[in-house]
Amino acid sequence: MNQPTLEYARLEGELVVIRPIRPADAAAVFPLIHGQRSVLDWLVWQGPETVYELSDIYAHWATPSDNGTNYHFALDEKSSGELCGTFALRFLDHPFVGDVGYWLGEHFWSRGIGTEANMLVAYLAFEHLGATALTAEVFVGNEASCRVLEKTGYRRERAVRTRPVQLEQSRADKTEWVYALTRSDFDRVRAGSGLTIPETFEVRLD
Ligand SMILES: CC(C)(COP(=O)(O)OP(=O)(O)OC[C@H]1O[C@@H](n2cnc3c(N)ncnc32)[C@H](O)[C@@H]1OP(=O)(O)O)[C@@H](O)C(=O)NCCC(=O)NCCS
Repeated sequence: MNQPTLEYARLEGELVVIRPIRPADAAAVFPLIHGQRSVLDWLVWQGPETVYELSDIYAHWATPSDNGTNYHFALDEKSSGELCGTFALRFLDHPFVGDVGYWLGEHFWSRGIGTEANMLVAYLAFEHLGATALTAEVFVGNEASCRVLEKTGYRRERAVRTRPVQLEQSRADKTEWVYALTRSDFDRVRAGSGLTIPETFEVRLD
C-alpha cells in the first residue's frame, strides 16, 4: 500500500494557519531567519544567504516520491495574518513515519503557536496521511522545543550524536534527543487538550 499524497492542505487553528509555502513567501521569511542566532542555533541549517536562495527552496512545497513525500508549510499567525515561521513534515525514505522540523521568528515565541502547529500537523499526518508514528530530533538544551513536543504527546526515546553539521553553535550541544509520537499517545493528548479540528481544515489528496 502506498502512502496517500497531499495535493493541498490548509489547516486553520485558533492561533495559526498552516498552508503550503510558496516562493513569494521568501521575502517575509528572510528577516525572521537570516542571521537570527536565537533561531538558527537550534536548527541543522545555517539559514539562507539571500532571499533568492529561499525562493528556490520554496519552489516546491511538496516533494513527491514513491517512497514517501516531504511537505513544507508556511505558518501564518492568525490574529495578524503575518507569516511567523515554517514547518516541515518529511516522509521521504521512511513512508508512514513522518519526521517534523519547525521554527518561528523570535517575536512570535511563547504564544502557543508552536504547540498548536504541532497538534494540527500531527492530526493531518495520522488522520489523512496514514502515519503510524512521527519523530523529531531536538538539540539537548532546547527546552522550549522539548516542551512543545511533550505537550503534543511525543515521548523522549533516546539521545544520539548529532549529524555532522557545520554550524556556529554557540549554545546548541552536539547531542540530540530523539522524540517519537504514536497515534494512541496523540489521541490521548488531543482528547485532553480539547483541540477541535475546525471546518476550515481543508485537505485534498492527490
Ligand atoms: C521551539 C519553538 C517552535 C516553540 O514555539 P512557541 O510557539 O514559542 O511554543 P509554545 O508557546 O507553544 O510553547 C512553548 C513552551 O515552552 C516553554 N518554554 C519556553 N522557553 C523555555 C525554557 N527556556 N525552558 C523551559 N520551558 C520553556 C513555555 O513555557 C511553553 O510551555 P508552557 O505552555 O507549558 O508554559 C520556538 O521556540 C522556536 O522557533 N525556537 C527556535 C527554533 C527551534 O528550536 N525549532 C525547533 C527545532 S527542534
